[in-house]
Amino acid sequence: MSFTATRRHWKDFGSHLEVRKHFLEITRAVRSSTLDLGRTHYALALAIGVWEAICCGYGEIAAVEMGVASGNGLLSLCKAAHFFRESMGIDIRVYGFDNATGLPTVDGYRDHPELWEQGDFLMPDPERLRRKLPPFAELIIGDIADTVASFQTTLRERKLAFAAIDVDLYSSTLACFQMLEWAPECYLPVVPFYFDDMEEFFPYNEWCGEELAIREFNDAHPRRKFQRHPRYNIRHFFGLHILDHKMRTGEERPLFPLRISGI
Ligand SMILES: C[S@@+](CC[C@H](N)C(=O)[O-])C[C@H]1O[C@@H](n2cnc3c(N)ncnc32)[C@H](O)[C@@H]1O
Repeated sequence: MSFTATRRHWKDFGSHLEVRKHFLEITRAVRSSTLDLGRTHYALALAIGVWEAICCGYGEIAAVEMGVASGNGLLSLCKAAHFFRESMGIDIRVYGFDNATGLPTVDGYRDHPELWEQGDFLMPDPERLRRKLPPFAELIIGDIADTVASFQTTLRERKLAFAAIDVDLYSSTLACFQMLEWAPECYLPVVPFYFDDMEEFFPYNEWCGEELAIREFNDAHPRRKFQRHPRYNIRHFFGLHILDHKMRTGEERPLFPLRISGI
C-alpha cells in the first residue's frame, strides 16, 4: 500500500505537536517503504531539516550534495525535496557541487591512496545530468575549493538545511567545510549532515579522510560542532550544531520549540 501525504502548508501548523504528528507520519512511511523519496538516509535527514526549518519559521532553505559523480544521489535528493515543496509549500532549492573530472590529486595518507585514484567517479556528461534536474536544482561545476565561496550568496537568502558530503578525500572535505565558516544566519540552528565515507571500508579511521576533517573542524571551532546522532538510526547521520546561532544563544525564539525526536 502506498502512503498519500496530507497536503499542509508549512505556515498552517498551530503547534510543535501538530508538526511532529505530520512528520512522524511521513518518516514512518519512508521507513516502511510506503513512501518512496529516494535514498532513505537523504530523505530522513532532509525531513529533519524541513521539520526544524518549520519550527524556526524559515520558509526558504537549501540542501546540498558535495560530490555528485553520475548524479544518482543528487536526483534522489531532488525527489525528496520535490515532495516537501509540493506537500508543504516549503521553498527548498537543491545544489550539487562537482568538478566533473573525477577525484582530484590524491595527496598522502590522509586522502586514502590505498582506496582512491585521481579520476575515480568521473561525471560522464554534466549537460545530460543538468537536463534531468528539476527547475529548483542547480549543478555547480568546478573544484569545490574554488566554487564553494559563491554558495555564501545563496545561504544569505536561504538557510542550509541539509548537506551530504561525498567527496572521498580529506583534502576535498576540507574544501567543503569552507561553507561552514559564514555568519550564523546562513544555517539552521542544527544542520543535518550525511557523511558517506566512513566505516564501510576497513582502512577508514579517525586519522584520515572525513573522520579526520570532522575532528579537526570541531577542534578549531569553539561554537560550531559536529556530533554524530546514532539514536536516529539514519546512516552516517550528524548534526552540525551552530552554537552561535541566535536561537542557540537565546537572542531569538523559534516559532515552536525544536523538539524533534522519534524519527
Ligand atoms: C563518490 S563520488 C560522489 C557520488 C554521489 N554522491 C552519489 O552518491 O551518487 C565523489 C565525487 O566527488 C567529486 N570530487 C571530489 N573532490 C572534489 C573537489 N575537490 N572538487 C569537486 N569535486 C570533487 C569527484 O569528482 C566525484 O564525482
